[in-house]
Order: sequence, then structure tokens, then C-alpha cells
Amino acid sequence: MRVLGIETSCDETGVAIVDAEAGLLAHRLYSQVDLHALYGGVVPELASRDHIRRILPLLREVLDAAGMRGPELSAVAYTAGPGLLGALLTGASVARALAYGWGVPAIAVHHLEGHLLAPLLDDARLSFPFLVLLVSGGHTQLILARGLGDYELLGESIDDAAGEAFDKTAKLLDLGYPGGPALSRLAESGEAGRLRLPRPMLDRPGLDMSFSGLKTAVLTAVQKGGHPPATIARAFEEAVTDTLVEKTRRALEASRAPALVVAGGVAANRRLRAALEVMAAAQAVPVFFPRPAFCTDNGAMIALAGLRRLQAGGADTGLAIRARARWP
Ligand code: KG4
Ligand code: ZN
Repeated sequence: MRVLGIETSCDETGVAIVDAEAGLLAHRLYSQVDLHALYGGVVPELASRDHIRRILPLLREVLDAAGMRGPELSAVAYTAGPGLLGALLTGASVARALAYGWGVPAIAVHHLEGHLLAPLLDDARLSFPFLVLLVSGGHTQLILARGLGDYELLGESIDDAAGEAFDKTAKLLDLGYPGGPALSRLAESGEAGRLRLPRPMLDRPGLDMSFSGLKTAVLTAVQKGGHPPATIARAFEEAVTDTLVEKTRRALEASRAPALVVAGGVAANRRLRAALEVMAAAQAVPVFFPRPAFCTDNGAMIALAGLRRLQAGGADTGLAIRARARWP
């Protein structure tokens, strides 16, 4: 079984092929970052148009790299949501058309299922059940994954996602867009413990989180002056890390999950990875991260999720093009 995966939910065009035995055969990614950087954020209509320009050349490259022709594939998986509707429709239409032309099923994949299965691309030791800390630009959630498609939401951010907080804080510090990686680089040279920002909702029980207040605290610190940007970046990263680590620790304790998966764009953050590793080691729970390139959006995780769905008998034989901007 070999599945082609197509990801176009936001500003990254990802295409990949995963084989049931050999694993990842080929993957290509085109990031629209430079296009949207001019506007300080993703412009949905420009995103859709750029996906249209990139997707077929990427597909050709992936097929060549895997030494395959389309009809040899078992199915075509695509991100059906959540995400930007126009962007999703681009990938969904191409995927559905290819599947129709090749006479194979199409598989509508939930973007977050792609993220949470991503560690399996590199590490076959991971198996259900496990706890997931999913930290991306759009979501911050603690999920108990009992099996494929059997997910329980244990807690989430009640306002901004962690990645969104990184991006907004980076904007306040004039670090450009998307600011997460830039802010994290700046934080490296910031002095630890110099400035303390609030850890929202840590004093409250439960597994929900909040990050919008942190952004306001950063704004206040910037306006007050007296702290170099690196110190503020460091304080911000420490506050986010402490909050995520403590909530994840509580979720591990409450769920007794035997393993932890950390996925989504913010899982690429070094400080967060290190702190979660220390915490999980203290709980004697193994922690699985995707490789950094598969933390952020990519086609490989969608191909893998599609393969798992296909193996579980979840392929769609109808001709519907599925795209949902919101999908709980
Ligand atoms: O998963 P992703 O690619 O897209 C969504 O599905 O949202 O996540 C993108 C988010 C952005 O907010 C970006 O700033 C953040 O992940 N991010 C990081 C790092 N790399 C990406 N945040 C902190 N540190 C990083 N190294
Ligand atoms: Zn994502």
C-alpha cells in the first residue's frame, strides 16, 4: 500500500508518498512565507492561488523521486480541514481529481490527526494509547489518543494558540512574520530570570490554557522600556514553556497515558522540547517528537494519516470534494 498525501490547509504546499512497509518514499514542501511576509500574515486568497501554482510541479517531483507513476498508488489523501477554505479546496480538488483519474480512493484527512500521527514517520515504536500536546499556529490542545480516530480533548487554550502567541509577540518585537522561529532564536541571547511574565491559568486546576494575556504583558514590557528585546523574548518563551509543561504534566498524571507525543509547529521549539523531555523523564513516560521539518505543516503526515485510514478501511469511494474550514 502506497498513499500520496497533499497538504494545503494554510500557507504551505506539501506533497509526499508513504509506503506501508518502506515508510516515507518522497516528500516536497513549498512554503509561501515570503509571499505573506509582505503583509505581516497569511492572506487567504493569495494562499489559494499560490497552492494552485505549486501543487502540480511538486507532485511531479515527488512521483519522480519515488520512481513511481500515479496509477501505482493505492489512494490519495488530502487535508480536508480545518484551515483556510480556499486553500483547502485547492488541495482537495487536485487530490479528488487525481484519485478519480487513477481509479483509486480519496481520503479526507483531519489536519490535526496528521499532526498527531507525525512522529510515526520516524519512529515505529509509538503505539496507542498516548497523550498528545498539539501546539500549532491555530491550536493548543491536550488530547488523549486511544486509537485511530478515537480522540478525547482533555484541555485547550481558551483564546490564542501557543504559535499565535509566538507570532503576535514576535510582531510586537518587530521580528517579522512568522515570528515563532525568529523569537526563539532571539530568546537564546536573552538573560534568564531577568524579567518574569505571568503564567496564565497555572494557579487554576484543570487543563485549559490561555495565552492572550501574555501578549498584553509583553506589550506592557515593551512600552515601559528598560528591557532589551532578547530579555523579553526569553521571558516570553519561559512563560509559554512553563505553562505547557505543567499542563502536560497534569494531563499525564490524570490520564495515566503511557506515552507522550508533542506535535505541531511549536513542537519545533528547542526550549519546549528540552523542558518536556525533562518532565516526561521524571514521570518515566517516553516522549515522541516528529523531526523538526514534520512539526510544521507537511504532506508526509497527511500521507501517513491517509495510509492508516486506508488500512482501517476508511477510504471514501464517493466523488465528493471535502473541505471544512472548521472541524472540531
Ligand atoms: O503546525 P504549523 O505549521 O501550522 C498550523 O497548523 O498552525 O504551526 C505554525 C506555528 C507558527 O505559529 C510558528 O510561529 C510556530 O508554529 N513555530 C514555532 C517554531 N517553529 C514554528 N514557534 C516557536 N518556536 C519555533 N521554533
Ligand atoms: Zn498545522
